[in-house]
Amino acid sequence: GLPARVRIHEVGARDGLQNEKGTVPTQVKAEFIRRLADAGLTTIEATSFVHPKWVPQLADAEELFPQIAGLPVDLPVLVPNERGLDRALALKATRVAVFASASESFAKANLNRTMDAALAMFAPVVTRAKEAGVHVRGYLSMCFGDPWEGPVPVPQVVDVCRTLLDMGCDELSLGDTIGVATPGHVRALLTELTGHGVPLELLGVHFHDTYGQALANTYAALQHGVTTVDASAGGLGGCPYAKSATGNLATEDLVWMLRGLGIDTGVDLERLVATSVWMAGQLGRPSPSRTVRALSHK
Ligand code: HMG
Ligand code: MG
Repeated sequence: GLPARVRIHEVGARDGLQNEKGTVPTQVKAEFIRRLADAGLTTIEATSFVHPKWVPQLADAEELFPQIAGLPVDLPVLVPNERGLDRALALKATRVAVFASASESFAKANLNRTMDAALAMFAPVVTRAKEAGVHVRGYLSMCFGDPWEGPVPVPQVVDVCRTLLDMGCDELSLGDTIGVATPGHVRALLTELTGHGVPLELLGVHFHDTYGQALANTYAALQHGVTTVDASAGGLGGCPYAKSATGNLATEDLVWMLRGLGIDTGVDLERLVATSVWMAGQLGRPSPSRTVRALSHK
C-alpha cells in the first residue's frame, strides 16, 4: 500500500543551486528559502559548509544562514568534516548532513578521499553533532550507478548504509546522483536494505531525473514503505563533482503525483510553482519541471 503522508526534504537551495554557474545573490537565496517555507515545505536544506573553493556558489553560507534561521522550518546544512560542523554549530544549526559515497571514484572526486577515509572523516562529525543535540542525516551518493564505474553492487551500498547508521546517523538518504536508477533496481536495493535490518522509517530517497525515471523510482519506493522523499523546487540541480548529473526530481512533479494519489504533503502547489517561476526568472532560464511548465502556462 501507499503511505497517507510523505515528508518532502526540499533540496533546491542546496543541491539545486550548488552547480549554478553564475553567482546567485545571497538575498535571492534567502528569498527563495522564505518562499519555499511559505509554500508549506517544512524541511528545507539551506546550504553547505564545505570548502568554498570546492563549491563557490555556497561560499556565502555564513551570510545566508542567519537571514533564514528564524523561519519555523527545519533547515539542514551539509557538513563534510569537523571544520564544516564547527561553522554550522557557530550559527546554531540544528540539523546537519554528512555525505558519503557508495563508490570509490565519487568519494575521490567529491571528497578527495577513499570511501573508508571519508567515513572516518564523518565519524567524529556525527559523534560531536549528536553530543550537541543536532540531528544528523547521512547521504549516500551513487547508490545505483557511478559515471566512472558503472552499476554499483547492492552489497556495497548496504555496507555503507550500515556504517552510517552504526556511526549514529538519525536518517539516511539514498542518492541516485546521476539519475540512472529504474524502479526494479530501487525495489531490489530497498529489499536488500530491509533484509539487513535497516528500518524503512530511517530511509529517504534522493532521485535525479536525468533519464526521466525519478517519479517512477519514487513510486516504487513509496510502494515499498518509504515516506521521505528528496526533491528540488523547479527541478534545479546537479552535482559539480559528478559527470552527467542533472537536476533533482522536481518538487512540483512530486507534489502533483502525490496529490493525485491522495497523499498529504502540506505543500501548496500553486505557491510552489509561483516560486519556481520567480526563481527561473532570477536564473534566466525556464524550469525543466513539466508540472511547473504546465501550471504556469495555464
Ligand atoms: P581537501 O582539500 O581534502 O581538504 O577537501 P583538507 O581537509 O585537506 O583541508 C584543506 C584546506 O581546506 C584546509 O585549509 C582546511 O581548513 C580547509 P588550509 O589549512 O589549507 O588553509 N577546509 C575547509 N574550509 C571551510 N570549510 C570546510 C573545510 N574543510 C576543509 N568544511 C573537503 C576535502 C571535504 C573539504 C572538500 O572535498 C569539499 O569541500 N568537498 C565538498 C564537495 C561538495 O560539496 N559536493 C556537493 C555535495 S554532495 C552531492 O551533491 C550529492 C548529494 O546531493 C546526494 C546525491 O545526489 O547523491 C548529497
Ligand atoms: Mg543530489
